[in-house]
Amino acid sequence: MNPTLNIAIRAARAAGRVLLRHFDRVDRIQVQTKSRNDFVSEVDQSAEAVIIQELRSRFPAHSILAEESGAQGQGDFQWVIDPLDGTTNYLHGFPQFSVSIALRHRGQLECGVVYDPLREEMFTAARGEGAQLNDRRLRVAPRPSLEGALIGTGFPFRDQRHIDAYLGMFKAMTLATAGLRRPGSAALDLAYVAAGRTDGFWELGLSPWDFAAGALLVTEAGGTVTDLAGGSRHFDTGNLAAGNIKVHREMLDLLRPFLSEKLAA
Ligand code: IPD
Ligand code: CA
Ligand code: CA
Repeated sequence: MNPTLNIAIRAARAAGRVLLRHFDRVDRIQVQTKSRNDFVSEVDQSAEAVIIQELRSRFPAHSILAEESGAQGQGDFQWVIDPLDGTTNYLHGFPQFSVSIALRHRGQLECGVVYDPLREEMFTAARGEGAQLNDRRLRVAPRPSLEGALIGTGFPFRDQRHIDAYLGMFKAMTLATAGLRRPGSAALDLAYVAAGRTDGFWELGLSPWDFAAGALLVTEAGGTVTDLAGGSRHFDTGNLAAGNIKVHREMLDLLRPFLSEKLAA
């Protein structure tokens, strides 16, 4: 097994233990508001500290981009970390959240881990080596079109500038598919595309730590991830769509009429 991926898995497990330890008493957790509908708890912070400690001890020269503590270091290798993806779910005791850790080298994704500690599901991928769930190899679903598809998404609950465009997309997607799901952890949403549990996913305004690991999972499982114009600017814009090649193409066609100049960029 890829040694770097092994360390990422160990870090994700350690963070998962922190998340589980507090999950039965979420009412006791200290929470701060970063901005409207954006919360950080002591659990996000301790899980992040555990991950950084684990990675730092093995890779002192690597830099870090972590949701709660920001960017640290200068190296060409950068760890992109979301210690708790799905904080809103977690703080309500809603059982859908994950740990997401990815390694980039000069911007190229090298390996990624998305861990669901409640289900003990460890989704992993390394560039050129495929994607796995625990010990099972992953492939995106073979569905040939949006007809009958199950599509994941995320609602724009913080930045509501694009709410009307999003609602247009939501309506069109609802009419074209078998249904939409909004589970609440973008990292897991992408892992589910990689695992063929959903046929596609799209969301606006994500941050790199929400989707870095998940994006590698999808591409290593044979799928496609792009920005909404079909390009590769999602790390800048945070707007992305994922699916197998056919479903992804149909998703972009369907979303195109709702793209303002800003969203198409
Ligand atoms: C959020 C989750 C959610 C998505 C949001 C993200 P957080 O991450 O991934 O599914 O809709 O855009 O910010 O804040 O829980 O780490
Ligand atoms: Ca997140
Ligand atoms: Ca988070």
